[in-house]
Amino acid sequence: MPDFSRESWESRYKSRESVWSGKPNAVLVEEVETIEPAHALDVGCGEGADAVWLATNGWQVTAVDLSATAIERATAHAHRAGVDGHIVFTDAELGEVIANDGPWNLVSSQYTHPGEGGRWLVSTLAEAVAPGGMLLVVGHHPTDPHAAEHPDLKDAAFAAEDVADVLSRDAWEVSATLRERTSYEADGRERLWRDSVLIARRHG
Ligand SMILES: C[S@@+](CC[C@H](N)C(=O)[O-])C[C@H]1O[C@@H](n2cnc3c(N)ncnc32)[C@H](O)[C@@H]1O
Repeated sequence: MPDFSRESWESRYKSRESVWSGKPNAVLVEEVETIEPAHALDVGCGEGADAVWLATNGWQVTAVDLSATAIERATAHAHRAGVDGHIVFTDAELGEVIANDGPWNLVSSQYTHPGEGGRWLVSTLAEAVAPGGMLLVVGHHPTDPHAAEHPDLKDAAFAAEDVADVLSRDAWEVSATLRERTSYEADGRERLWRDSVLIARRHG
């Protein structure tokens, strides 16, 4: 059984000074930069790069993560970027945050693979989207080379069309795709990624 608990994420963050690049995720930037900013929820915000990018682009952001260490780093990043007044960071349970603070015009989850699975993630986050709002869920596809190297992640990876199943087409306009992208290792080697990208717009 994969361990995606609060404790395991916390010890992963504590084991290194920083875990992620500090840059916003490409799909978020691509899909959101042309949208009129309003209120956004960043789920599994990690060290805060997406939340900072959103706030810098005019969004009021709620950003949630299981790891208190990630939240501390994200808060410091927002402070350095001068947007801390536009983001509320929290390590509270996702369900509580949604029940108490929602809904949002944009709900984004980038590479959050909760133990409960991708279908649970999408149905939980769908509840948090305001009428006319957008749900953007990106995860590793089961054929992603990175997921293939990590058995826990491979079990948690999902195809966008499988998780999109939980959304009623009467209430949502849905796009579910597999997108490939490349990045470069420190030694210059190219690396292929295969992302599952779910974009759903809730009817107004
Ligand atoms: C692979 S990291 C991605 C971080 C960030 N979104 C990024 O792309 O840089 C996944 C993050 O999701 C968080 N996470 C996993 N399950 C969660 C849950 N149920 N509620 C909130 N955060 C969660 C983890 O603590 C971790 O920081």
